[in-house]
Amino acid sequence: MTYLELRGVSAAYQDVNIVSNIDIDVDEREIVAVAGTNGAGKSTIIKTIMGLMPRCRGTMTFLGHNLFDYAAEDRVRLGISYVPQVANVFSSLTVLENLKVVEGVRDFPGRSTEIFDLFPVLAQRRRARASSLSGGERQQLALARALMSKPSLIVMDEPTAALSPALATQVFTMVRQLPDIGVAVLIVEQRARQALAVSTRGYILDSGNIVMAGPAADLLADTRMADLYLGRE
Ligand SMILES: Nc1ncnc2c1ncn2[C@@H]1O[C@H](COP(=O)(O)OP(=O)(O)OP(=O)(O)O)[C@@H](O)[C@H]1O
Ligand SMILES: [Mg+2]
Repeated sequence: MTYLELRGVSAAYQDVNIVSNIDIDVDEREIVAVAGTNGAGKSTIIKTIMGLMPRCRGTMTFLGHNLFDYAAEDRVRLGISYVPQVANVFSSLTVLENLKVVEGVRDFPGRSTEIFDLFPVLAQRRRARASSLSGGERQQLALARALMSKPSLIVMDEPTAALSPALATQVFTMVRQLPDIGVAVLIVEQRARQALAVSTRGYILDSGNIVMAGPAADLLADTRMADLYLGRE
């Protein structure tokens, strides 16, 4: 079943087109990666999906709903959750408070208990301030917050950007498990190889254009593409 479908989507800041004529699909239980370097337009795509770009056009549906009919907060209510690239947790609040803030907004009593079952590390540190967490734990908390609203799709903006290779691997391991709990994932990443390795489908973004798309395994196996876009192992 098709969850998210983008057709001919473009987005601009003022008069400058940042992404052009993008097609992206995310189906049920899929992990889809959009790989691109700094400034390629990855965050812009995510912001467009979440309703945070003032100037965009094209066709964008989620579970058959025209997303352009929904304001940003209503897109979350439709079942899309967003993990921003930066500032994705409240540093001065504890782990538990970070989850409870969302619980209060979404009114899913007891959801934080379910989430702690999924993230034992966070459960252990529930009374710690978010500012005291390691980078990897912080990304776990950001993901946990996004799961609080029981989304069917999570969009993640470079969750491993600030992390060491070892911690990045931990994050990808967590991402890989999301379809098992009924959550589809759209992830944008500079760590192209690792992102594609956990994905079913992949897109390569270059200067705001999708230059290659297909099954993630095919993109990884394409040596010409790998040389151009995937960097060293
Ligand atoms: N608020 C803004 N006003 C004008 N231009 C912007 C704005 N935000 C981003 N841009 C430009 O849009 C382009 C794409 O930015 P975007 O943040 O989508 O890239 P990105 O792929 O997420 O990069 P990174 O990997 O560094 O996060 C860049 O050239 C950037 O300078
Ligand atoms: Mg970005």
